[in-house]
Amino acid sequence: MTQSIHNHHPGKDFNYLENLRRRLLLVLSRSPARFEHLLQEAEGAYPTDVQQVLQDLESEGQLRLTSNGEWTTFQEAAHPSALKPDGPQTGPSAALSNDLPEPHPLDFDWRFADEAIHLIVQELRARCIGNIAVLGAPTVFRCLVDQGIPAHLFDKNAAVLDYLKQRAYHTFTEIDLLCPGPLPSGRFECVVADPPWYPEHYEAFIDASRTLLKIGGRLFLSVLPRLTRPGAEETRQTILTYAAARGFEITNIIPSALTYVSPPFEKAALKIEGLVLGHWRTADLFELEKKVEVHTSTRQLREPDTWQNFLIGRVQVRLLPTRSDAGFKLCTDPQSWRLRSVSRRSPARTTINVWTSRNLALTVSDTRPLGSALQLLQAGSKVPEAVAQTSTKHQLDKSQSQQLRQIIEAIVEDSK
Ligand SMILES: C[S@@+](CC[C@H](N)C(=O)[O-])C[C@H]1O[C@@H](n2cnc3c(N)ncnc32)[C@H](O)[C@@H]1O
Repeated sequence: MTQSIHNHHPGKDFNYLENLRRRLLLVLSRSPARFEHLLQEAEGAYPTDVQQVLQDLESEGQLRLTSNGEWTTFQEAAHPSALKPDGPQTGPSAALSNDLPEPHPLDFDWRFADEAIHLIVQELRARCIGNIAVLGAPTVFRCLVDQGIPAHLFDKNAAVLDYLKQRAYHTFTEIDLLCPGPLPSGRFECVVADPPWYPEHYEAFIDASRTLLKIGGRLFLSVLPRLTRPGAEETRQTILTYAAARGFEITNIIPSALTYVSPPFEKAALKIEGLVLGHWRTADLFELEKKVEVHTSTRQLREPDTWQNFLIGRVQVRLLPTRSDAGFKLCTDPQSWRLRSVSRRSPARTTINVWTSRNLALTVSDTRPLGSALQLLQAGSKVPEAVAQTSTKHQLDKSQSQQLRQIIEAIVEDSK
């Protein structure tokens, strides 16, 4: 069984592309702009979608690319004095997160750029006295603790939490908020939350926030921009409706306040599409106040995540435990090991059972031999030793042993 590279991207949505088209034409009606600038103005649209829409508009004769690399409408000559975007700007920095284990797509982990962390901490300093709960934002948590501000982190990422623990950060709880146990009630003045950008995660993080917060407490919530993907606008509405039904009132919105670092898995996916970009993703910062205690029926809890995690240097390798009586076999063509999408809607996601934080993603018939080899590598073994020991333990034949070695070498090489 091999996987086609064309099966990596989710299908396109006509209304969504139409909205993106309108947005880009509006931005370009004001001034010609480079791709990077358009991306920042595209309200979260994924770079390949922005590129596709620009190319479609070009082939329809509505836009052209000038010799200095700017996209422009044909009406542009009529008002050349329109506002120009600034010249090259220094990009956001990532010094506050680049030592942590790498973000993995299974955690939907997009880390904040330093500027976003500073902005959140500044907002908290200005608006909050007392205990702060941080849901799904380890970088903000670490910065708060470093500044002597009492904070408690709730997150499910074991690799990141282990890393923090080794560095003497102890005020955290490892928890899957989609299926949490009991949380301390009414103990916090403020919550900062950066859930994965899906309705069920927002609902789970809002539910946790309302339990943790006192009446009058504030929730600072990162919210996905309108064109992040088809349905993002409806998700934004759902978030507000859900929060209101749970006793929250919106008090402030800072649009595009939070810049994210493009994670290695996203950079790798974009590189295959020929795009090497800076940190282009932003979110809005919503501030909400818990006005009343509302008693609602409990949300349906999800099954806990069963992927196993291994850390090779800073690279996270995840395995979805899979067994086969037919023995160990590689099922994916090495040509398509690099997942070309970061979307949860990617059809390829349904078959993968080996997945790295650099977006190497493949399928094997049985993950047990790979698990053994990764455990040995994690403990410091070299590749030949790990393959030899694993082959003996799992009684792999020569061809199986070679396939195992091919996978391990690719992961190790890619992790450098
Ligand atoms: C969008 S990232 C936010 C990271 C944040 N911007 C930062 O810089 O630290 C989502 C975070 O939520 C965590 N997470 C994802 N799913 C979760 C769940 N079900 N329960 C608890 N935490 C979760 C991830 O481990 C990750 O830290």
